[in-house]
Order: sequence, then structure tokens, then C-alpha cells
Amino acid sequence: MSDMIHEIKKRRTFAIISHPDAGKTTLTEKFLLYGGVINQAGSVKGKATAKHAVSDWMDIEKERGISVTSSVLQFEYEDRCINILDTPGHQDFSEDTYRTLMAADSAVMVIDASKGVEAQTRKLFKVCAMRHIPVFTFINKMDREALDTFELLDQIEKELGIPTCPINWPIGSGKHFIGVYDRDEGEIDLFSDTMKGTRMGNVEKISLEDPEAESYMDQDQYEQLQEEIELLDGASAEFDQELVDHGELSPVFFGSALMNFGVETFLQHFLKMTSTPLPRVSDHGVIDPMKQEDFSAFVFKIQANMNKAHRDRIAFMRICTGEFDAGMDAFHVQGGKKVRLSQPQQMMASDRKMIEKAYAGDIIGIFDPGIFSIGDTLTTAEEKYAYEGIPTFAPEHFARVRQVNTMKRKQFLKGVNQIAQEGAIQIFQEYNTGMEEIIVGVVGVLQFDVLKYRLKNEYNVDIILENLPYEHIRWILNDNIDLAAINGTSDMKKIKDLKGRPLLLFVNSWSVGMTLDRNEGLELSEFGNA
Ligand code: G4P
Repeated sequence: MSDMIHEIKKRRTFAIISHPDAGKTTLTEKFLLYGGVINQAGSVKGKATAKHAVSDWMDIEKERGISVTSSVLQFEYEDRCINILDTPGHQDFSEDTYRTLMAADSAVMVIDASKGVEAQTRKLFKVCAMRHIPVFTFINKMDREALDTFELLDQIEKELGIPTCPINWPIGSGKHFIGVYDRDEGEIDLFSDTMKGTRMGNVEKISLEDPEAESYMDQDQYEQLQEEIELLDGASAEFDQELVDHGELSPVFFGSALMNFGVETFLQHFLKMTSTPLPRVSDHGVIDPMKQEDFSAFVFKIQANMNKAHRDRIAFMRICTGEFDAGMDAFHVQGGKKVRLSQPQQMMASDRKMIEKAYAGDIIGIFDPGIFSIGDTLTTAEEKYAYEGIPTFAPEHFARVRQVNTMKRKQFLKGVNQIAQEGAIQIFQEYNTGMEEIIVGVVGVLQFDVLKYRLKNEYNVDIILENLPYEHIRWILNDNIDLAAINGTSDMKKIKDLKGRPLLLFVNSWSVGMTLDRNEGLELSEFGNA
């Protein structure tokens, strides 16, 4: 096996998805503990400070102390090289959050055991489902009072539509949390507060067959466990690697990230069950990193003005095949030109470091002189293929944008187009107005502030934003549709995107359903084509 293939086979690249506060940061920190990146949990600074440090390049972030972008963490564990893609939540939820999922080969879904499936998890899961990537579930905070285990699994199955396969099973929760039963080994991993979760602890195990096992729990718990195991063996889906690979079955684990319980078990199983960097679809068929030796990558995120003095941009790309060497040349397919890939960077917690080499599965940030767009392909292969584009995700907030001073029309258009090209906003037009007034759609409301701020600071253009009540956008998929003939609801608005494709805006999801009912054959999609 060549060194390159050996390096690629070591790689596992995944995103963590969750609703804010479910424990994503805490779990990531524990992963880093096992990866030896930190030797005591809690040493990675508070969430706000850590994130702040990663990307304090933009004043707006400094002001708010939050990050508008996401970062990548890389560490080694048991001869695997792991890339974790962070998906920002809270107010900084944006299209980037979704796009990050396009760069991952699998996802870890963290669920708060007392809350179950929550809104943001639902949204992010949808994108994973669209890509059919494997999704692993970690049900967190078992050291707190939890919902009934069957109910939790039922929620995942019903609300997300994916069958689950519990790999272990919790015994009690909160004050009565005893540990988890490992279904494969027939053993109980006994819960212990490993120095309040600050270090890697040894987990004591006991076989359920061992007469002593009963003494660790009260009679009710013991009987309930016996019953549940029996029920599970009869009723739940069996583990099936192939279904997991296609995102059709989610292995489920229970634990407490804070107490560092169930984390290492999860990591070990997860690494066994996830795949090496996956093949990707291009316009020349499927490109497999195990067969294609040339370098190739696609851009999934562009971050502007990291250094204001230089107005530079960084294009983040996922390497799909081959090996990257700092300063190498590659063909930029969409631009039709050879480019030098300079100033390669990788993020690690609070610092950004220059790198010399990277492999398929890795994420790198490259200096962008303003030539790259989201979805672009770079390759050194003779055959100039382009990877399948990144879909446009449905914005959920809309505003009408007007210039204060109409004399600056040129700068205004340049600015909004540039920002739209970076993917921070989407621009739409009404059918009866010109470009001096546009409709802007965003995934996270913070992007409105970013737009206003950047137009003012970079293009010297003041704008007025008028919020619109729409929350649902649907691209019309039918070719040559007669828009006037669509019989919609009273709250519906017809607009078009910059490519002239017709769209519908709705205030609520009920109206979407109603419009579909009233117009037979109408095909609507939440995802615009790339
Ligand atoms: P997020 O990145 O998904 O938003 O969540 P984060 O890890 O920041 O965790 C949110 C809160 O939940 C934190 O508490 C964290 O300590 C707590 N938490 C995470 N995992 C567990 C767990 O397994 N058990 C319990 N009991 N709590 C957990 P906080 O009070 O908001 O922050 P902090 O002051 O503790 O940092």
C-alpha cells in the first residue's frame, strides 16, 4: 500500500450536529482528551472564548463574541486521523452550517436525553438524510433525569424517519444512573464520575450473568433491565453495517459527555463503524479516493476579510482524492485556469496553523484572490472533472433591501453580488422591480447584520432592511410553468432568483401544503439546484 493510500485510509471526517446546549462542545472536548490534544478537559477555554479566538477576524464577531464561521479540528486516536467539523449553532446558524455537512463523510448527532429531538437537530439531520451519509446518535446527559429510553428512540424514528439500533442501553438516569449495558458484550459499564469528567477514567465492567451484577442496582431496575433487553432483542432493528453506511440505520449510544462516561466506548465503536473518505460524484462519474491518485478538492466555504488590511479571502476546501502539498498548482475547473494553492491553513482549536501536507478527507483553507466560488472543483488530474455542486439551502428569513443613496447603485450591486457569491446571503428579485430593490434571503438572521456591516465597511453603501414575514421558500421544479396559473394562498409571493428561476415564498408551512393541494402536478423543492 502506498504511503498516500495508507494516510487516506486513516482518515475519518465527520460533523457533529445538535441543538444548542445538547453538549456538542463538551463531547468534542472529551474527544480531544482521548486524542491527546489536551490532557485535562476544561483546559480548552470556555466555549465563547475558544470560538472567539478561532475567528476574531471580523469586528462584528468581536462585538458579539460569537463566531460567524465554523472550524475544523484534527487529532489522532488509535492510528486514525480524525477531522471534526464544527457546525455553528445559536444565532450564528447560517448556510455555512449546512454546507459544512457537505464536506463530512458522516455525522454524530448529539441529543439531550431530557429533551429529545429538537428543532436544529431536525434541520441538520435533513441535510444528512439528503446525502445519505451515516448518522451516529449519542444520547447525552444521562447523569440528569432523562426521558424514557424507548420514547427517545421512538422520537428519532418518527420525527427523523431513521430506524435506530441501540448499541448500548442505559440503566436508570439522573441520580439513579447506574451505567450502560453493552448489548454485544453482555456487560454493564458501570457509571463513575471520572474526576468530574476531567480525565480519562477506567470504566469498571461487570457481566450481567455475574450474580454480583444485581447488587449494583435496585430490584426494580434489575427487573426492568431484564425486560428491556428481552424487548429490545425481539423488537429493535439489528445492527447492519450496510444500512448504517447508507444512512438508513443509526447506531445509538448513551452517556454523559460532562462526566466523561460512554465517550470512549462511543469513539471506539464509531471509528469501527465509519468509513474512510467516501467517493464523490462528478460530471465524469464517481471519483473514488482509493482509485484516483491525483489531487482533487471542492470548495464548500469562503470566508472573507480575515485580514482587513489585505481584503483577503480564504476558500475552505475538502480534499476528495490524492495528496496536497503546500504551494502546489492545480487546475481550477470552473475558472478554466491553473492556480497556485498558497498559504494553506488548518484550524486547531484556538490557532490557525500553516500546513505542508494534507490528504483526501482533510479540510484546508487556501488563500483566495477572489476567484473561487462555493462548489468549485480543483484538480491535478488530466481529466478535468467537476464535482457535483453544493445545493442552495432554503433561507428562512427574508428582507427587502434598499439603498439609502441610489447614486451608489454600482457599488451596491457589486457588494451584494460579491457577498452572495461567497454564499452568505441569497438574492432574489420581484417580478416587477429592477435591481435597485432586491429581496435577500438568509438562513440565520445574523447574516442581515453581516450584510449591512459589510456593505457599509467594504463598499461604503448604506442600506435599509425591511423585514418580510415569509419563512418558507420553494423552488418550482416544473419546466415552463405558467406562473399566473398557479392558484396559491393569499400569503404567497412569486419571486425569481438571479438565474431567473421561479420561486414561491410562504408565511407558514400550511400554505405550502395548501398550494400543492390546489395545483396538481406542481413540484416544489426546498433545495435550489447548485
Ligand atoms: P453545545 O455545544 O451543544 O451548545 O453544548 P455544551 O457542550 O456547551 O453544553 C451545554 C451545557 O450542558 C453546559 O452547561 C455543559 O456543561 C452541559 N453538559 C454537557 N454535557 C453534559 C452532560 O453529559 N451532563 C450534564 N449534566 N451536563 C452536560 P452550562 O452550564 O451551560 O455551561 P458550563 O458553565 O458548564 O460550561
